[in-house]
Amino acid sequence: MTALHPDPYRDVDAQPDPIRFAESLEERGRTPSQVRLRQRFLRFMPVRPGHAVLEVGCGTGVVLRDLAARVGPRGRVAGVDQSRWLVRAAAGILRRHPLRRRIALRVAAGGRLPFAADRFDATLAVTLLLHVAQPLEVVKEMARVTRPGGLVAVQDQDFGTVAVTHPDRALTERIMAGVAARLYEEPWSGRRLPGLLRAAGLERVRLLTDVYQDTTLEPYTKSFLERRAENAVRFGLVDERTAQGWLDGLTALVAQEAFVLTMNYYGAVGAKAPAPRGRRRPR
Ligand SMILES: C[S@@+](CC[C@H](N)C(=O)[O-])C[C@H]1O[C@@H](n2cnc3c(N)ncnc32)[C@H](O)[C@@H]1O
Repeated sequence: MTALHPDPYRDVDAQPDPIRFAESLEERGRTPSQVRLRQRFLRFMPVRPGHAVLEVGCGTGVVLRDLAARVGPRGRVAGVDQSRWLVRAAAGILRRHPLRRRIALRVAAGGRLPFAADRFDATLAVTLLLHVAQPLEVVKEMARVTRPGGLVAVQDQDFGTVAVTHPDRALTERIMAGVAARLYEEPWSGRRLPGLLRAAGLERVRLLTDVYQDTTLEPYTKSFLERRAENAVRFGLVDERTAQGWLDGLTALVAQEAFVLTMNYYGAVGAKAPAPRGRRRPR
């Protein structure tokens, strides 16, 4: 049996409890600060009425549902994810959604998209590249299926920017930086996105720096920090008692209304070069 990668999003279907990841994505999706982050990013791209848009790494479809509202009745939205389990969960949620007819789902990996070249007006990936071994390959593949002049957009959090209140700063640093370094190839992935788009040959690259902010310990933030504590024990950074004491320190701050957690999200958008004159197809 091959050992699982420590980052569960590399292979959700191989996890003993894939439902936990579906629930966590939906929980994050409805967190107010996350709703604002997503909407600002989609406006920044921008996604317009009538657009054909593809999201790579769509998970349970949080972003797809926002996209469906933005592209309007003449637009269409496609979502792919390599997890069969999450695509099934997305389809189950969509069954009760009023805009379901605008959205198509497929199981596929970002490095090998099952679409012809130049098919979409825009392609995007939201908190995907952080979890991928070869992010440049995925961005190039997104560019391939985007039409000349169309947009390729990526957004990632950057775990080098997490700021959280805690009485024990050294322990907080050990847990937050230590876990991120062991889970991800590039924990600072967010700030590297503009460079990645340029390396993939995209033009007119723009950057939106945004912040996730929580002062009340939202359910999503709480489970994020609990998973960090759990992983710190798994990676041998702290023992269970220390991890629990660290979480208790955070809860105490919430009771004093002194809790703050912020984390930067970077959104980068680039354009695919227009087709040379004479090779342009009428649209
Ligand atoms: C953190 S989730 C983000 C889901 C969604 N974009 C959202 O914001 O709610 C990352 C998703 O990427 C998927 N994923 C990871 N590696 C992938 C790859 N190489 N190709 C396609 N999907 C991938 C995972 O299965 C997971 O659904």
